[in-house]
Amino acid sequence: MKIGFIGLGKLGLPCAEVVAQKGHDVTGYDIVDVQTDKVQFKTTIQECVKDREIVFVAVPTPHDPAYDGRAPTAHLEPKDFSYDIVHSVLKEANEYMNKDQLLVLISTVLPGTTRREFVQHISNPRFVYNPYLIAMGTVAWDMVNPDIVMIGTEDGTETGDAKQLVDFYKTIMENDPSYEIGTWDECECIKVFYNTFISTKIGLVNMMQDVAEKQGNINVDKVTEALANCTKRITSSAYMKAGMGDGGGCHPRDNIALRYMADKLNLGYDLFDAVMNAREKQAKNMAEKLVTLAKEHDLPILLNGVAYKPGVPYQDGSYSLLVGHYCHELGRGPMTIDPSIDLGGGMEFRAVVLLAHPTLYVKLSSDSIVVDPWREHTSDKYKVIHYGNTRKN
Ligand SMILES: NC(=O)c1ccc[n+]([C@@H]2O[C@H](COP(=O)([O-])OP(=O)(O)OC[C@H]3O[C@@H](n4cnc5c(N)ncnc54)[C@H](O)[C@@H]3O)[C@@H](O)[C@H]2O)c1
Repeated sequence: MKIGFIGLGKLGLPCAEVVAQKGHDVTGYDIVDVQTDKVQFKTTIQECVKDREIVFVAVPTPHDPAYDGRAPTAHLEPKDFSYDIVHSVLKEANEYMNKDQLLVLISTVLPGTTRREFVQHISNPRFVYNPYLIAMGTVAWDMVNPDIVMIGTEDGTETGDAKQLVDFYKTIMENDPSYEIGTWDECECIKVFYNTFISTKIGLVNMMQDVAEKQGNINVDKVTEALANCTKRITSSAYMKAGMGDGGGCHPRDNIALRYMADKLNLGYDLFDAVMNAREKQAKNMAEKLVTLAKEHDLPILLNGVAYKPGVPYQDGSYSLLVGHYCHELGRGPMTIDPSIDLGGGMEFRAVVLLAHPTLYVKLSSDSIVVDPWREHTSDKYKVIHYGNTRKN
């Protein structure tokens, strides 16, 4: 295929060269002169995009130089990346491209940026957002052996533009990656949360290292290797479904005790505090949703399930009750139903129902509203809101 690359830097050049090595005809453009014997270097965007079926844009989305992490940044005001270069390159590429061509943005951007800022520049070619999960030092290998390939389209459709890109990637991949096709916004999210997931993992294992140093008699490798062997829950896809927060008799109180330890060992930071604060704020956000709906529709709130998980009679660390606590605070104390704790059921309720447990324990009137944080419940009788899914289609 005829492929173009705009931006031949640390990411763009190795990727363009791999594509050329796989037998495609590749042109490239950069504002600086780039030495390459595999890519046909062009001196303007116009020449670079001419006759190309797919044009990739891998230009920088730089941060403020003070924010690169080699010096402390935690005290600095949080800032977005700068998108000026992407704006100008997309505008210029658009000018010289047409509907038969696909323009593909690779650069990293925050969720919402493409829809808010970029698509207005694209009227001629078709457009997808396709960020890369690639590490420095292994760019070329990573490109053709990725965990996943993200392809973002306006409405997440898997046909047309997304399919064209998948068909192209199939000609170069050395493994069999999963193709994750979603909206622009979803792919922006996958990319940045992939990176921050790694940062969080590293933050956690290095916290164990700090505890080993400060506590004594601990080899951090013993701890991390044991946890790495917990392939059912820790190094697996377990807990990779958003829904109700962490609960039960152990996790919340362990984190609280670890806050104490962080202070006592003088670690100098308290990630547990951040985790617990997030848990509480997330519960409050959910409560605000329920209370807003309850007020709008003049309905009481019902918590469907109050045990910390379905099928047990324990309410220790119940996230559902935590949400209920915030509903109270917001002036709408909820009713509760849970067959492991009380009887109930049978009668029909008229309410805004939080589906804290995925099985609905009661019958509902047709003017009830179910808020389902697991996004699986459906009904023809009453309204169901899939909490956490804000896609339009
Ligand atoms: N480097 C990586 O491993 C990696 C991985 C994933 C995503 N990304 C993202 O990809 C994007 C590019 O990253 P990078 O590391 O290759 O940056 P880089 O700075 O190494 O390369 C960017 C290239 O774009 C060129 N450029 C600047 N302005 C231009 C313009 N107006 N027209 C054409 N070319 C222009 C620069 O001269 C440079 O060669 C960033 O958004 C980055 O976050 C990078």
